[in-house]
Amino acid sequence: MTTGELREHAFDGIQEFDNRLPNWWLWTFYSACLFSIGYWIWFHTLGVGELPPEAYMTEQRAAAAVIEAEAAKNPVTEASLNKLASEPAVVAEGEKIFKTASLCAQCHGPDANGMVGGVNGVGPNLTDNRWIHGGSAMEIYRTISDGWPEKGMASWKGFGPMFVQRSTAYVLSLRGKNLPGKPPEEGATEYAGGK
Ligand code: HEC
Repeated sequence: MTTGELREHAFDGIQEFDNRLPNWWLWTFYSACLFSIGYWIWFHTLGVGELPPEAYMTEQRAAAAVIEAEAAKNPVTEASLNKLASEPAVVAEGEKIFKTASLCAQCHGPDANGMVGGVNGVGPNLTDNRWIHGGSAMEIYRTISDGWPEKGMASWKGFGPMFVQRSTAYVLSLRGKNLPGKPPEEGATEYAGGK
């Protein structure tokens, strides 16, 4: 492999031999190339393998399923709702519900700040810390479950307990984010219970 030949160029008087790359090095290089093709096909073309963010979400969902199953067996409490709100996969499900145009987003806006298409929506900003019907987990749950039909907020009980609990978890995760949006409604009071 050593040719003993010097290459023409010199840097600061330093010259290089014109040697072949060692075979062991070339093989690690070729194998890495082959591996990358396989990797690309497996993860990106066929999508058989789960990339780390997806694998993470799968784990999160499995953990959330256990917690949701537990929640479904027990009565809904302040603590059980706060626990759901601390599960990213449950909150992600709630977010999907919320952002669906025909569900919560049509009145509260996709960002939940009360803005729909750049104008004040029908529903209030849910990201501030001011609440018409109380900002505790149980109060928000009650609002979503039973609604305040006479005030324009529908009851969502009919969509099932998980629907209500997931959307409650999402609203809890928004509490106190204070996104700029629709100003608080008349009579809304500060929720003093912290986040
Ligand atoms: C048809 C319009 C409409 C839709 C759809 C709607 N809301 Fe509302 N929502 C309102 C209105 C209006 C109020 C304020 C009621 C009042 O003034 O008492 C409200 C109030 C609320 C409140 C209480 C806010 C507070 O300050 O106490 C929560 C929480 C809430 N909505 C969550 C949701 C969720 C979650 C969904 C979807 C599952 C949803 N809303 C869908 C109109 C809507």
